[in-house]
Amino acid sequence: MKIAIAGTGYVGLSVALLLAQHHEVAALDVVPVKVEMLNRRESPIADAEIEAFLTVDASRESSLSFVATGDPREAYAGVEYAVVATPTDYDPERNFFDTSSVEAAVSAIRSVNPDAWIVVKSTVPVGYTAQLRERTGDRRILFSPEFLREGRALFDNLHPSRIVVGADESDPEAVEAAGRFAALLAEGADPAERARENPDGSRGIPVLVCGSTEAEAVKLFANTFLALRVAYFNELDTYACSRGLDARKVIEGVCLDPRIGPHYNNPSFGYGGYCLPKDSKQLLANYADVPQNVMSAVVEANRTRKDFVADGVLARVAGLGRPLVGVFRLTMKAGSDNFRASSVQGVMKRVKAKGVPVLVYEPALDAPEFFGSEVTRDLESFKERCDVIVANRWSDELDDVAEKVYTRDLFGRD
Ligand SMILES: NC(=O)c1ccc[n+]([C@@H]2O[C@H](COP(=O)([O-])OP(=O)(O)OC[C@H]3O[C@@H](n4cnc5c(N)ncnc54)[C@H](O)[C@@H]3O)[C@@H](O)[C@H]2O)c1
Repeated sequence: MKIAIAGTGYVGLSVALLLAQHHEVAALDVVPVKVEMLNRRESPIADAEIEAFLTVDASRESSLSFVATGDPREAYAGVEYAVVATPTDYDPERNFFDTSSVEAAVSAIRSVNPDAWIVVKSTVPVGYTAQLRERTGDRRILFSPEFLREGRALFDNLHPSRIVVGADESDPEAVEAAGRFAALLAEGADPAERARENPDGSRGIPVLVCGSTEAEAVKLFANTFLALRVAYFNELDTYACSRGLDARKVIEGVCLDPRIGPHYNNPSFGYGGYCLPKDSKQLLANYADVPQNVMSAVVEANRTRKDFVADGVLARVAGLGRPLVGVFRLTMKAGSDNFRASSVQGVMKRVKAKGVPVLVYEPALDAPEFFGSEVTRDLESFKERCDVIVANRWSDELDDVAEKVYTRDLFGRD
């Protein structure tokens, strides 16, 4: 089968390579340098499985059928499915996602191919796909939420927690097309996943075919729950720090309850990355006139936590003549090279707003400045020059300057 992908970021590229194991996949991107890199079998993003797939393919030892292109005709003509994986950044002025790239991709696909089933994989507001179908009179548009983690994008598609595909449930042909798309994703997964036992006793990859609006809600509610969990343990940590309790012991004790569990509970500077901040804000906007307290609190808690962390950092340099605060890595997680909306940036902004200069150590950034702050790639002089070093996640590289480090990383994970 021929399949097209619009957008070769974390979502588009991982889905493209997953499907290219069994089908003919063409991926289109509007950035020519990405297309060129992919056709040289170089990954534009840091992701172990994506890099490995491309390397093996370059040595012609794999049976991937994958081409990247900037030409809509080459990508979209003759395909049965076209997956849209373009960005949906949060627009703070409209208080909603900017879905213009999704609409641009949908109309480019349709101008070449009137028949393909379009599967939106970008995260969109609740109700968006139904509205798009109505507005355009185009019934062949589905929505499938993507649950991958950045840096583990292809791994998570090879080992999916679940597969969800949404359609207009009153249209049997659309429901059938959604089921077939779910089967394509399952076919690309690691064969061992088909035999796995799930916590509820079922076997294989759980598949949910539902209404597209429900599928959109699944994505936003799942990410807002993850944000809530991060915010909860962060606020526990804020309390422990403020009252002189050992936060680690409290978290360990709380998480020994199997209903809570000892995972995803490591304090940080806030939830961050491309998805959790924007998806929780979008869900809150979707509530509009619907009563709620928790959704606002999840959004608000992230600001409060960054204020608390910034105050803690500033307290460490109070009284120093001309203090310099160091930011050790702009990334969200250890091992990542992506710093879109990382929480340390919020802390950095607050520290600078109080007139204290910041020096950034970020080897993944090839620029002399980041939002007006000096950037260095020289770790030794960074350690020497800074009075306090702010690190969302601990690294062995900081062992020799431990007394200078401000972190809330208690468990060395997540
Ligand atoms: N990154 C994640 O962890 C993640 C997880 C789940 C869902 N999502 C959602 O998936 C979507 C994509 O996220 P991402 O992280 O892969 O984004 P990304 O920014 O890494 O990649 C998007 C790609 O789309 C390309 N693009 C932009 N406009 C285009 C167009 N009209 N046609 C073709 N290509 C176009 C860009 O050049 C870029 O390469 C977003 O809606 C995001 O919220 C992301």
